[in-house]
Amino acid sequence: MAQLWGGRFTKQTDELVYAFNASIGFDRRLYRQDIEGSIAHVKMLAKQKILTPEEGDRIQEGLAGILRDVESGALEITPEYEDIHSFVEANLIDRIGDIGKKLHTGRSRNDQVALDMRMYIRDAVRTTDGLLFDLLAVLQRIMEEHIDTFMPGFTHLQKAQPVTLAHHVGAYFEMFRRDRARMEDICRRMNECPLGAGALAGTTYPLDRAYTAQLLGFDRPTRNSMDSVSDRDYVIEYLAALATIMMHLSRFSEEIILWNSNEYGFVELDDAFSTGSSIMPQKKNPDIAELVRGKTGRVYGALMGMLTTMKGLPLAYNKDMQEDKEGVFDAIDTVTSCLRLFTGMADTMKFNRDAMEASARNGFTNATDVADYLVNHGVPFRDAHGISGRLVLKCIAEGKALDDLTLAQFREESEAFGEDIYEAIRMKTCVERRLTEGAPGQAAMREAIAENRRYLQETPGDRLR
Ligand code: ARG
Repeated sequence: MAQLWGGRFTKQTDELVYAFNASIGFDRRLYRQDIEGSIAHVKMLAKQKILTPEEGDRIQEGLAGILRDVESGALEITPEYEDIHSFVEANLIDRIGDIGKKLHTGRSRNDQVALDMRMYIRDAVRTTDGLLFDLLAVLQRIMEEHIDTFMPGFTHLQKAQPVTLAHHVGAYFEMFRRDRARMEDICRRMNECPLGAGALAGTTYPLDRAYTAQLLGFDRPTRNSMDSVSDRDYVIEYLAALATIMMHLSRFSEEIILWNSNEYGFVELDDAFSTGSSIMPQKKNPDIAELVRGKTGRVYGALMGMLTTMKGLPLAYNKDMQEDKEGVFDAIDTVTSCLRLFTGMADTMKFNRDAMEASARNGFTNATDVADYLVNHGVPFRDAHGISGRLVLKCIAEGKALDDLTLAQFREESEAFGEDIYEAIRMKTCVERRLTEGAPGQAAMREAIAENRRYLQETPGDRLR
């Protein structure tokens, strides 16, 4: 057991208590943030003459050595330390002797862990933003290639009106674009440095908090020291944004699973992104999409867990807050792998244009267009709706599509029909006429695709770095 606080204790910590209390098993992930934060702290202490320049240099060299050795594997982070902070400090003292004991001057583990978590989450937010960018680039490519791939648009999972694959995928482009906007927003709000808040009430040393903030790439120091050590809003905001990403990925996965079924046959997944069955030789299963859909649950769970942990905590730091880590680490790993895998799967999917178009054709998705035709020929919409409905009924009875009816059959329901009805209800015409901003018509889609391209150029994957 290696802990930082033996002085006022007369007994050894019970072993079970020690294990229950320790966080090294998971906060070891924060080693880099912890060391970089400590280096900045020491630079500031030296600048403020709280340490001599020699002390400052020695400690910085010691810390840099620890970082190097951990990264090369020469130094292992072992569980005999209570947490990552104890590990680094104990190693520093081993390395450079008693001077190392000055590292923690004017600092508490409370502001230290608040800093480490902020830096870790800030990095993770940037990574998520980049992964979302990669996915958007794939969606953009699909949109560009499928501006005239017709497919049924659904409401209530019933064929509704014809759209294009570009338009359908474009809906997901919007979702993931909003997810990126959330990343930017979280980054901006959380980018304040809690270091110097001390245990909760600042310190009596003349710290230059603005200097450490600047060294660590923060916009400014946090404003209230009690809030600084007890705020985990940024973890919650990030988890909420991750949960939303998973919800989007899960909806898309659900569609891909449907589209990949024999009944739909809209897409074929690449062999590298599907799996087989141990018993049924014919199977090629969409496991990746199913796993993404399934893993959504644990990310929602992490958000609920964190909200519940924070609920009812009095100011300022409480040990409950050590529970901020495992859930968010798991959520980060989960979303990272889901985004990577989903992007790879989407990038290699093959779309079956013929199946999509045939499906749009045989589901009466142009029934609204029959009504619209009549409206353009002076029939009030409500009457036109009734006429089109009766024509659909006739088609169902005869097992036909609307385009298969003879002109005489059309005219049995309304004299307003002429030879041009066939042109008016062709799939291509139905889609092409939908030119309102945001609609699937080619001109509107070209606008959307050009706007997406501008957006991707202006916000590269590393923009938050
Ligand atoms: N391991 C602790 C955490 O993750 C570090 C802070 C400990 N501070 C304390 N006063 N016990 O929250």
